[in-house]
Amino acid sequence: MYESEGAWREVDAYFVDTLVPEDPALIGARESGQRTTMPQAEVAPNQGKLLAMLCQIAGATRVLEFGTLAGYSTVWLARAVGVDGRVTTLELEEHNAAIARANLDRAGVADRVDVLVGPAAESAQRLIEDGTEPYDFVFIDADKPSNPAYLRASLALTRPGSVIVIDNVVRNGSVTDPDSPDDRVQGVRAVLAEIARDARLDATALQTVGSKGWDGFTIVRRTG
Ligand SMILES: C[S@@+](CC[C@H](N)C(=O)[O-])C[C@H]1O[C@@H](n2cnc3c(N)ncnc32)[C@H](O)[C@@H]1O
Repeated sequence: MYESEGAWREVDAYFVDTLVPEDPALIGARESGQRTTMPQAEVAPNQGKLLAMLCQIAGATRVLEFGTLAGYSTVWLARAVGVDGRVTTLELEEHNAAIARANLDRAGVADRVDVLVGPAAESAQRLIEDGTEPYDFVFIDADKPSNPAYLRASLALTRPGSVIVIDNVVRNGSVTDPDSPDDRVQGVRAVLAEIARDARLDATALQTVGSKGWDGFTIVRRTG
């Protein structure tokens, strides 16, 4: 707990109360995260809305998500793509996927979301082999050591102009440590290095503080 964490939470609560009203379906999805294998690992409400707004700003109608959990971010993304849009979300655990499906149903977006259960790398490989139409927006938020593999899969499943957002890139500041023994830190460092090396990608990264503590996103735009 950082000294200022109470203030970060208060400010987030104020922003969310003022600008990001959650309907009962979103509240239910967030609360049901407690019953998943990773309680409280969903994005904050203002972060969910940021993802939705990035989708809308990019004009995205096809979204791919790595890491569904209870479907909280998925509901935001599915609402952002509208009735004619599609979201494919990849989740390892059937237990979480079942909770997510119920939440998507309650939010009225189940018909525009495919929840694919299994290791995300395998599900993504199947999408590639099936020649799936490119996605406009990708949210990478599953197991962090696999970030480089998820970026590579995303590049096979997107087009120039697509946007890729990667969550949890700060790791309590350990992201700056090249010798970190934490394979999640190494997954973040490796994906950032790959992005930096890839001439087709333009990117930035932002630190965030708030109800989820100290964290951050990488935002990538595919230019070629
Ligand atoms: C941080 S949570 C996702 C939170 C969700 N995006 C949200 O904001 O509401 C990470 C999820 O990735 C899933 N996961 C972990 N390893 C995975 C893998 N190899 N393949 C697919 N999903 C995986 C976990 O079960 C968990 O549900």
